[in-house]
Amino acid sequence: MNRRRAAALLAAVLLSGTACSDDDSSIWATTTAPSATSTLATTTSAPTTTTQAGTTTTGTTQAGTTSTAAGDPSGLGDPYFPELGNPGYDVEHYLVELAVDPVANTVEGAVAATAAATADLDTFHLDLLGLTVDSVTVDGAAAGFRREEGELVIDPAGLLPAGEDFVVTVAYHGTPLNLTTLGFPIGWVQAGDLTYVAAQPDGARTWLPCNDHPADKAAFTFRITVPEGNVVAANGSLAEVQDGPGVATFVWEMPEPMATYLATVVVGPLTRVEWGTAAGVVLRDYLPADLAADPPAPLTRVGEMMEFFTGFFGPYPFAEYGHAVVPGLPGALEDQTLCVFGREALETLFDAQPWTLGAEAVVAHELAHQWFGDSVTPSTWQDVWLNEGFATFAQWLWVEHARGAEAYRQEVAGSYAWVAAGPHPLPGDPGATGEELFADSVYVRGGLTLHALRVEVGDETTWEILRAWAERYAYGNAATADFVSLAEEFSGRDLGALFEAWLFDPSIPALPG
Ligand code: ARG
Ligand code: ZN
Repeated sequence: MNRRRAAALLAAVLLSGTACSDDDSSIWATTTAPSATSTLATTTSAPTTTTQAGTTTTGTTQAGTTSTAAGDPSGLGDPYFPELGNPGYDVEHYLVELAVDPVANTVEGAVAATAAATADLDTFHLDLLGLTVDSVTVDGAAAGFRREEGELVIDPAGLLPAGEDFVVTVAYHGTPLNLTTLGFPIGWVQAGDLTYVAAQPDGARTWLPCNDHPADKAAFTFRITVPEGNVVAANGSLAEVQDGPGVATFVWEMPEPMATYLATVVVGPLTRVEWGTAAGVVLRDYLPADLAADPPAPLTRVGEMMEFFTGFFGPYPFAEYGHAVVPGLPGALEDQTLCVFGREALETLFDAQPWTLGAEAVVAHELAHQWFGDSVTPSTWQDVWLNEGFATFAQWLWVEHARGAEAYRQEVAGSYAWVAAGPHPLPGDPGATGEELFADSVYVRGGLTLHALRVEVGDETTWEILRAWAERYAYGNAATADFVSLAEEFSGRDLGALFEAWLFDPSIPALPG
């Protein structure tokens, strides 16, 4: 593949600005080389080799990860981030009540998590990095607490019996940390006149004491107080704005379960732009004033995309959708109901080569994540192709719709040519310690896996499978093995070999179709 074609393909699938480097060596080297700056992989995520067993031979990635962690209060034993999340309880709702000072770059307030104990607890953990904890209560009574690296260890006054709800409230303040995870800047970001959160995969714990693993999804209420002149966008629907002297409190409700990595707030002088509804979904963007006056073309097509995707994937899972456009983010993140989109990425990709859809494909990609990733969330980070491969395939479907069958064929053929010239990390097994979690090939070869399924079982059955996937696991979690069995159920075929070959076999199968 020539370099211009490669760059165009990359622009269409990828969200990392660094990937578009015009370096004389292969442009792919920048994205496929393991990151040297993966602080979390080295400091808090010792690989647990036991949980990797069997992944390449069985074609599934759920190697008993949670059972290996039973008894370890500090993590759920995720293959890549064993210390993320905590056993013994299941959070149902987070109330995030924070005053944000965007000039001093500080937060102060409390998170109250309502959780159901799943075991008798005389102590339990939340995940939290940095910040200063001022007090902890459980069901209103003072509780003991101590910090151990990324863990906030809580010692309630009495035993919390299995099966019963409790409310843990953590009051805290400070300047949230920034992390670099897998080479990406993660966490609480202050850039230009905006402050925002970009937390995938492990950054929610920099601003929220929480059960920071996608396996524990919960509803959220945000009550964010900011100085006059600032606007707050967050996940869900804006329920209320309360004005006080010199401040305003924005109340956002996210009633459907959400993984912690998808929680976001964006604070600053933003304009709310309303686009009406499409397929019954309220469309609203939060844009800087100049973009609000002249919205970028890709954002104007979201209504059409919403109609198109609901036709393929079934009802959109939430009440609202839109984007917050921010400076300094090298790509975009599919935060639930509110995609956070880097302005530079939006503008550079928008000006991409004429034969690609550039930023428009990324806008479609992020919207598709609302079904695949946000509503149906991987059970562990190793299954991230269920997010990225699906969103990439969905973006190709949009290309097919917007530009025709030949454009789809070119996307697939160009992607295949790049993958086949590998080696590249495998979508089903992106690195022993997860260092390739967001490698281009997880996206591209993941998308090709669904293309191969499409050719194998035909269009109608493929759409049925995608709809059934979105419906059966809506608002929950699922693993690769669940997808393979659902595809077999709906097609009536044995598809183990197809998925094994496309997701786990270092030698890529021939391009079908
Ligand atoms: N999930 C984002 C998307 O493809 C990309 C995130 C890339 N990096 C990261 N560390 N989360 O839409
Ligand atoms: Zn994606």
